[in-house]
Amino acid sequence: MRVYLDHNATTPVRAEVLAAMQEAFARAWGNPSSVHAEGAAARALVDRAREAVAGLLGAESGDLVFTAGATESNNQVLQALRHRGGPPGSVVSSAAEHPSVEAPLEALEAAGWRVVRVPVDAEGLLDPDAVEAALAPDTALVTLLWGHNETGVVQPLEAIAPRVRARGIPLHVDATQCVGKLAIDLRRLPVDLLSLSAHKLGGPKGVGALVARGGAAPAPLLLGGPQERRRRGGTENVAGIAGLGAACALAARELPERLVRYADLRDRLWRGIEEKIPRVRRNGSAARALCNTLNVELVGASGEVLVQALDLEGIAASTGAACASGSLHPSAALEAMGRSPAEARSALRLSVGHGVDEAAIDRVLAVLPDLVARARAEGA
Ligand SMILES: Cc1ncc(COP(=O)(O)O)c(C=O)c1O
Repeated sequence: MRVYLDHNATTPVRAEVLAAMQEAFARAWGNPSSVHAEGAAARALVDRAREAVAGLLGAESGDLVFTAGATESNNQVLQALRHRGGPPGSVVSSAAEHPSVEAPLEALEAAGWRVVRVPVDAEGLLDPDAVEAALAPDTALVTLLWGHNETGVVQPLEAIAPRVRARGIPLHVDATQCVGKLAIDLRRLPVDLLSLSAHKLGGPKGVGALVARGGAAPAPLLLGGPQERRRRGGTENVAGIAGLGAACALAARELPERLVRYADLRDRLWRGIEEKIPRVRRNGSAARALCNTLNVELVGASGEVLVQALDLEGIAASTGAACASGSLHPSAALEAMGRSPAEARSALRLSVGHGVDEAAIDRVLAVLPDLVARARAEGA
């Protein structure tokens, strides 16, 4: 039996999601834009999914644009600035963003835009005062990673968002790691744009959404059709969208239980690690961490070596972002928190989710101390 502790990279598809997708493939294979019954059946599934996603977030269903995932959603928001015409302005962001935001920010800089990356502290947190101080008359957008994929740190959006709104500047958040793992109610949070991805909450890969509230929709990234009310061209990924809807409906039902259960498992893991392994420290604020994420520094051991050794023991973990695995660069997020490259290379990310139980955590705790001792000896 394998133990999967890499839910921040991706999650297994839930049975209910698979059933919804199979129904879509089997019975709703029409084109949602067609006016006949086959088209109407597909349209009905897309509409139902839109309601489910909006329901989980406290959003208006009409504000949702289905995309091919959070990378596309983030790009739509940021690339729209580059194509808006007029003189370049500025964007305020943080020093610890996901590459799907960081890369389009760099493209904006290459096009003459000014990007202000507000630093995070040693705990990975942004200071709301510092974000406010970075706002300028030419700030066209504030874009922030809400829950960090590597450290699990959840930014104090409740303090930041009203200040950005007070200045009349649109706020975009990448909520990919938060959806399904944090209570989100957009009726109470002045956020204008929000990105999410199905595969981080038990849904399929290659589908996600952009919430663009109150007519704030950025120009489409994909031109070519009237779909999604002209906000995203291309025939809809009906089965994927149905899967995303099913994953959101499940999350809405399970969220209160998940918040407690995942945090219990994560805390059991941390307590065990602290107890059994000398010279460890937690990366990122423990008080403001996603319920499922633990990032630890195992001083003197290589995170890459540990990930491989754990895999041989039947345990899936990660050093940080899945897309950066195997790269020689240590985590930029940990470096932004003031960690040295050597410290950042000793990080291990363990993220729990559906299917993980106490026995799985105890299995990890049974093998990890020896693996760390060996990795330390190798690195010495
Ligand atoms: C915070 C964050 N943003 C964006 C993405 C990209 O999402 P997707 O895989 O749907 O493009 C991910 C996951 O890789 C993520 O963790």
